[in-house]
Order: sequence, then C-alpha cells, then structure tokens
Amino acid sequence: MVLRKTFSTLATQPQLQAAAQKYGLQLGAQHIVGGTNISEAIERVQALNVQHIDATLNYLGEFVTDEQQAVEAKDAICAVIDHIVEANAQAHISVKLTQLGLLLDVDFCYDNVRDIVEHAATQNVFVTIDAENENTLAITLDIVEELQKVFDNVGTVVQAYLHDAPKIAERFQSSRIRIVKGAYNENESAVLKEPLHIDIQYVELIEFHLLHGTFTSIATHDDNIIDHVKRFVAEHSIPTNKFEFQMLYGFRKELQQHLAREGYNVCAYVPFGEDWYGYYMRRLAERPKNMSLVTKQLFTK
Ligand code: FDA
Repeated sequence: MVLRKTFSTLATQPQLQAAAQKYGLQLGAQHIVGGTNISEAIERVQALNVQHIDATLNYLGEFVTDEQQAVEAKDAICAVIDHIVEANAQAHISVKLTQLGLLLDVDFCYDNVRDIVEHAATQNVFVTIDAENENTLAITLDIVEELQKVFDNVGTVVQAYLHDAPKIAERFQSSRIRIVKGAYNENESAVLKEPLHIDIQYVELIEFHLLHGTFTSIATHDDNIIDHVKRFVAEHSIPTNKFEFQMLYGFRKELQQHLAREGYNVCAYVPFGEDWYGYYMRRLAERPKNMSLVTKQLFTK
C-alpha cells in the first residue's frame, strides 16, 4: 500500500519526469515500453504479429496543459495510424484524452480526437479511448458517445473498480469495449476498495458483455480471471471472434504466446514515445512486484 502510494506520487513529479527523459529508457522501462519512436514501436508490433499477437499502440503522453503540445500529439497519433497501415501491421490505437487537451478545453479536445478517429476511419483502424482518472471520466464517456454517433471505429474502457461500472457497461453495450480492473489511485466514494469485490464486479462485467455486447477485450494478467473466461465462453458457446485477451507489452509474455497458440485472440498494449515515465511508475504502483520482474529481466539479458 505504501509502495503503491509512493509510485503513484512519483508518477506525477515533473522534475523526475524530466530526468527520466534525459536518461532514456533505463531502469528496466525498456522491457515494458515499445521504444521511444514509431519505427521502434512498429518493429515490436511486427515481432508480436509473427507470434499471432495483435497490438494496440499508445503514443505516450497525458495531462497535457499546453495547446501546442496537444496538437503535436494529435499529429503524431495520426502518423501512427499511417505507419500501421504502411507496415500492414495487425494493430489499432489507444488514446488518452488528457493528452489531447481535455484539461484545457473540452471542445478543443473533442476536435483533436475527432480528427484522429476520422483519419483512422478512412484507414479502417479502430481507436480505443483509454479510461483515465475519475475526474475526467464523465466527460470522456460523453465524448466517446458523441463520436459514436458519427463513427463506428471507436470504443472505450470500463474500469471494474468504479461503483458505476455496470451502468457504464450497459451504456456502451453496443460497441467494442475493453474491460479492466482500474489503475488509478481513487477516492473511496468513487471506487470499490476491496480487491475481492473488484474481482467479483470485474467477472460480472465480462460475463455481461460477452453475452450481450459486441466484442469484448478482457484486459488482465490475472490467471484466475483468464481461466474463468475460458470456461465461461466454452459453456456458453461464445465464438473466439467475439472477444480477445489484452495484456500490457512485456508482461506475462509466455502466457500471451500460450493463449495465442491455443487459438484465442490476444492483443498487447504497446506504449511508446519519450513520455514513458508516468506510465512506468503507474505499473510499479499497481504491482510493486513488477519491480522484481523488471530487475530480473535486466540481469538475465
Ligand atoms: P492484478 O494486478 O489485480 O493481479 C491479479 C493477479 O494476476 C496477481 O495476483 C498475479 O497472480 C497475476 N499477475 C498480475 N500481473 C502479473 C505479472 N506482471 N506477472 C505475473 N503475474 C501477474 N486501467 C485503467 O484504469 N484504464 C485503462 O484504460 C487501462 N487500460 C489497460 C489496457 C490493458 C491492455 C491492460 C492489461 C490494463 C489496462 N489498465 C487500464 C490497467 C488495469 O486497470 C489494471 O490496473 C492492471 O491490468 C492490473 O490488473 P490485472 O487485472 O492485470 O491484475
């Protein structure tokens, strides 16, 4: 708990972010970040594709408070789409609205994300709008709903720790969604705190969307949940083209490969870019054991 709070706090320290950028992908981050530029990221995606693992590419960045930076991020993300198509990669993209100016102005952010989704639509690329912290959630979901009135290549994420998660799942029932446990350090009034309660709600959401939704991305590294899903889809004759397992790049690589060999759709979330520090600290915050995984990898290379 103490470590979780420490890493969550470190994730938002500007001086440390600047130092991290200076020293590059050191301290193990290179094992879970797909490079600092799009060429490196596409190489990682192609290596995954050879193993029959798809990717969702995320150009790293969040909580942007400068308009120019948000516009640059939009342009970079549109270029990511072009690279996916050029490389004929099995990949789509994941986007955070705070990277596109959500904290500056909602209309400005909407225009940016709309440009991305429109560009992706012309190239037949799907866009997932990541769920960020609770302060930005309501407006994020409204923006996704607005976009879905015009485009069918956009979906979002349901965080199972939210008290309101079942309502959100129902609201987005007719679109492809990713279901996760939830990664942010939130206030008790908004989220379930007991891991067991989160797991119970998580499984209920997955079952609901597998039975009543379109396409479900089950994003977890949790064996118990993955095994449960395997049994559930078999019992309910849910075909493999209705769902996929998603995991973070660099985590549980053998499990990802094993599931792909078993014939399940598997998709790795591949973050890349210079702005990797906050992402890395959040991964350490949610599972300090990740530190030992990363250190182990450092010494076995
Ligand atoms: P959790 O951390 O609860 O661990 C449960 C069990 O799984 C562990 O006890 C262990 O047995 C096993 N396990 C977990 N990690 C392991 C590892 N590295 N090695 C070995 N065993 C491990 N969150 C959010 O708020 N918004 C978002 O948009 C997203 N997007 C997203 C995309 C993808 C593809 C993933 C995988 C995750 C997210 N998340 C997210 C993060 C998510 O909310 C959650 O914080 C993490 O996935 C951690 O929860 P898990 O379900 O993986 O297992």
